[in-house]
Amino acid sequence: MKTAKDYIIFPLDVPSVDAAKALIHLLSAHVGLFKVGLELFVRTGPDIVRWIQESGSAGVFLDLKFHDIPATVSCAMVGVAELGVRFTTVHCAENPAMLQAAVEGANGKVGVLGVTVLTSVSGQDIAAAGFCQEYAENPTRLVMKRAETAHAAGCTGIVCSGQEVSAVKERFGRDFIAVTPGIRPLWDGVSADDQARVTTPAQAVKNGSDYIVIGRPIRNAKDPAAAAKQIADEIAAAING
Ligand code: C5P
Repeated sequence: MKTAKDYIIFPLDVPSVDAAKALIHLLSAHVGLFKVGLELFVRTGPDIVRWIQESGSAGVFLDLKFHDIPATVSCAMVGVAELGVRFTTVHCAENPAMLQAAVEGANGKVGVLGVTVLTSVSGQDIAAAGFCQEYAENPTRLVMKRAETAHAAGCTGIVCSGQEVSAVKERFGRDFIAVTPGIRPLWDGVSADDQARVTTPAQAVKNGSDYIVIGRPIRNAKDPAAAAKQIADEIAAAING
């Protein structure tokens, strides 16, 4: 059965194996998945994935956010599928063929999540990138359009903000997985860093998030394990309340 801590994905956004291992030791019992992203993967390669798998029960989310021609994405995904990770990511901003190629390469061995609109992106950014006013005024519309492409291509789910997740679940159903970064607990002051479309852990889960990605509020806390535990308590209250 899924417990409150299983909702938490902790990103190992650190530049060395040693720093990653220290956080894994500290947080293994308090999170559901560790996310290996670009910063760590370019230094360690797949070794860190194997290390996490051998060191405890937390799963691995290999977040490499692919965005390339379909053949390249498909072949890269074949390699990811061999690593035994739970989820991986591909951007949704390209053509449907790229997403279909990702799903084909994954061959059911890893859940492919489409990254809709990064939570660091605001309406202003969307306008500056040349998108029409409709999307700049309401980023949820762009998220929904990209979610539709991901859904049609056979992706397992998407990455979106906690602000959009209820609309995504309503349109595509409960089984279409929604992973939400941009999470800021109230005790963290909902800090204004590079995240633009933020929600609290409780809001995200109440809105229907299957997993929340939460890094700096845990990593920068005086006691990261206690911070993760506090977030799990907040999630437990949200799912039981
Ligand atoms: O909680 P914090 O802001 O530190 O989380 C940062 C992490 O969230 C990074 O690993 C980044 O890759 C991830 N992220 C994501 N998708 C987004 C935005 C951020 O996976 N749309």
